[in-house]
Amino acid sequence: DRSIPFYGEGVAQAGIHTPPQRHILYMTFDLTTTDQRALQVLLARWSAAIAQLMKGEPIGQVEPERQGAVGFDTGEALGLDPASLSVTVGLGPRIFTEALGLADKRPPLMRELKQLPSDAFRPELTGGDLSLQACCDDQQVAYHAVRDLARIAKQTGVAQTRWTVMGFGRASAGKGQTTPRNLFGFKDGTRNIVDDEDFARHVFIADGPKWQHQGSYQVVRKIAMHIENWDTDRVSDQNAVFGRHKVSGAPLSGTYEFETPDFAARDANGDLLIPANAHIHLAAHENNGGIKILRRSYNYTDGINAVGQLDAGLLFISYQKDPAQFETLQERLGASDGMNEYISHIGSAIFFVPPAPREGSYIGEALF
Ligand code: HEM
Repeated sequence: DRSIPFYGEGVAQAGIHTPPQRHILYMTFDLTTTDQRALQVLLARWSAAIAQLMKGEPIGQVEPERQGAVGFDTGEALGLDPASLSVTVGLGPRIFTEALGLADKRPPLMRELKQLPSDAFRPELTGGDLSLQACCDDQQVAYHAVRDLARIAKQTGVAQTRWTVMGFGRASAGKGQTTPRNLFGFKDGTRNIVDDEDFARHVFIADGPKWQHQGSYQVVRKIAMHIENWDTDRVSDQNAVFGRHKVSGAPLSGTYEFETPDFAARDANGDLLIPANAHIHLAAHENNGGIKILRRSYNYTDGINAVGQLDAGLLFISYQKDPAQFETLQERLGASDGMNEYISHIGSAIFFVPPAPREGSYIGEALF
């Protein structure tokens, strides 16, 4: 029985520090009410349901005794192991408004993300007032969780679905995990945040109002990857795009995956071994005043696009204690990243993820 605790005291919600599970079902929702109490009820009901789901238990009867009744749990996870399911709830910028009477509870750094020149968003893939990030080693268990939570949102008349992505393979590494690969075929997550010290310094909030402590900002980007173009590119060029070797994952300045990249190293012609516009050159903390983010991304596919090409990409998810950490990196990447001709940022959202509720409480209780 691989189950992760939902409740906790003075800790973050599961699904941030948790080493990434294999799959994700990510969904955002729009509020359909400005009734603060209705939102409170939804968060309480979601929390109770998530606690059950993470234990691998149904959230209600599947086959009610009264045969005329409608089942409460939809049933497709019955008999399945919880498979390390975590469901992480995020609150969008419009939760903290006058309309809902929650303006005074706005986390100090909560705001819409800055518009950047690299944005190519489809409006229907942006924003949301609530987010659910269900990660699990069993895709069916993740799907069931979000499906039944979406059903509660609809039944209570509080929120409706906005956009969703189903990711089929983790593209980031946590503590003790081997580095997986993204759909460009490169190891992804080699230099991710793994130490608790780095989590404390870069990911979890520890100042300001007490109710936001151990919270974090979740930034989500649906990034289409033009994999058919990529697949026609020479491997030397692909390596230069990332600044790493495709098979070993080693920086172009070295031989082993976990070697520290040497961004100043040059070849016999005087050219930088890791080009100045390589993805890791632009994103590394050494070249960004020490900024780090936690990446917790997944590969996705939407099948085949209108012109018959494979339609796939990266559901990029990062956690940071200040949205500016993401913006600083994306501003640099958007301006010069060698990868830009192969990707488009088509979706985007930001959420504040409150800390885990203690037993008997629910997510966001401190707001009400
Ligand atoms: C590193 C892929 C988007 C931030 C890497 C690495 C790969 C990769 C292969 C090297 C291995 C590693 O250290 O994990 C991708 C792909 C993307 C993407 C395929 C989009 C489709 C982004 C975005 C950001 C970002 C949007 C932030 C705004 C980083 C950072 C590193 C990194 C901070 C570590 C750099 C270092 O310290 O060496 N990425 N990435 N990436 N990426 Fe991305």
